[in-house]
Amino acid sequence: MANLKPNSAEARDVLFHLHSQTNPGRHAEVGPLIMARGEGVYVFDAQGKRYLEAMAGLWCTSLGFSNERLKAAAAAAYDKFGFYHSFNHKTPDVTIDLAEQLVAISPIPHAQAYFATSGSEATETMVKLAWVYHAARGHQAKRKIIARDRGFHGSTIVAASMCGLPRMHREYGLPLPGFLHTHCPDAYHGALPDETDEAFATRLADDLEAMIVAEGPDTIAAFIAEPINAGGGIVVPPQGYFAKIEAVLRRHDILVLADEVVCGFGRTGNWFGCQTVGMQPDMMALAKGLSSSYFPISAVLLGRPVRDALAEMNKAGELFGHGFTNSGHPVGAAVALETLRIYHEMDLVEHVRAMGTRLKTGLEAIANRSAIVGQVRGEGLMIGVELVADPATRAAFDPGLKVGARFDALALQNGLIIRAMGDTIGFCPPLIITAAEVDEILDLFARTLGQVETQVGDAQVRDAQVREAQVREAQLRPNPSQAAE
Ligand SMILES: Cc1ncc(COP(=O)(O)O)c(C=O)c1O
Repeated sequence: MANLKPNSAEARDVLFHLHSQTNPGRHAEVGPLIMARGEGVYVFDAQGKRYLEAMAGLWCTSLGFSNERLKAAAAAAYDKFGFYHSFNHKTPDVTIDLAEQLVAISPIPHAQAYFATSGSEATETMVKLAWVYHAARGHQAKRKIIARDRGFHGSTIVAASMCGLPRMHREYGLPLPGFLHTHCPDAYHGALPDETDEAFATRLADDLEAMIVAEGPDTIAAFIAEPINAGGGIVVPPQGYFAKIEAVLRRHDILVLADEVVCGFGRTGNWFGCQTVGMQPDMMALAKGLSSSYFPISAVLLGRPVRDALAEMNKAGELFGHGFTNSGHPVGAAVALETLRIYHEMDLVEHVRAMGTRLKTGLEAIANRSAIVGQVRGEGLMIGVELVADPATRAAFDPGLKVGARFDALALQNGLIIRAMGDTIGFCPPLIITAAEVDEILDLFARTLGQVETQVGDAQVRDAQVREAQVREAQLRPNPSQAAE
């Protein structure tokens, strides 16, 4: 806390507040960046500095940071009551309306909506429902879950077990037994030389089948995937990947769970990410864009077979033994309903496609003038730019150079908020973004990229000079064995 003024908001934050996904030691040194307010796609810090929030906060505020209609919808819902629940046959009326609207746009036929309050709860709920599905059909041993490397599914214990990111496991002895991981479909790094996308996808499906057979198909309940990996670096699967994977899963009676927490609600240029990548899930988890994160609400959409299994399981009159106090909260439901209304009115899919194309082609044009961009990838308004030491060989930068973190810090100075995932720079702006605001992202990105190139170039020159000096010094130093002679 060396540099923080005693009793300042920064110092009090360090003393009293434990932050998510933040290094505690570094936080104590540098303190927080305190954000004061938002306006459209911009946020302003406590000093009044403006930032273009090109990550929609945490991939979530699709309607920006100051939507008046969502505020009014929440206020009107609070006027009726501050809370009601959905246990024991009761429910607020607005929660029924939201369920109906979600089912109307669901790609899963004959779906029902189950409500929770976070993405983690939604992904975990899908796991419990998958267990019920198999148990109700007499397959009690089908319990293992297959997730993928570089996937992200949340922070609670089962959700974290499904993550394919070591930082989600390291401190906790996770994953739990029975949570397995198969390959990430990253053709840029994972495909063999001269391997086509189709051959790569076939190889991944074959490897998945080998894993299933080795584990025992009658021990595996479900496979979970984000249609496009978000936090793992914005990884778009090759064409045809999910068709091949799902053929394997269907062969072994394994459910397909889509984690649409980021990809849902227009993000990838369709209502749902599964439609963009040709995935046909049995259940899907929704959160973030469901309410533009103006209220903590999430949902699971489950299809007819799972509904039937639940009915079968509880046919003797037992209760479905699952539920969160705030499941179907009336204020969250009202905010989500209004969010959906706005999506319909703004012609969400067309707008995202137009703005996404503008952003991606702009980033590609900048990439073509840069010596350190390896790949620009993504769909809709979810785009990653991977920085590499050598685009020709796809060789990564020396991790010591911290290229992604440098980019993040310089972008912040320039008034742009992005997400560095390793050396991949992520963009996931509010879906209301305009053409002029996309162009502003492109200008700020180009400026930051130029600064990173200079800094990395300087650091590489410095490193080379240090190495040369070390070699020279070693050559001048008397060789001990010669000295002894
Ligand atoms: C794909 C995905 N699934 C699940 C989650 C977990 O959501 P929550 O943080 O609301 O629990 C996240 C959070 O970022 C996510 O990106």
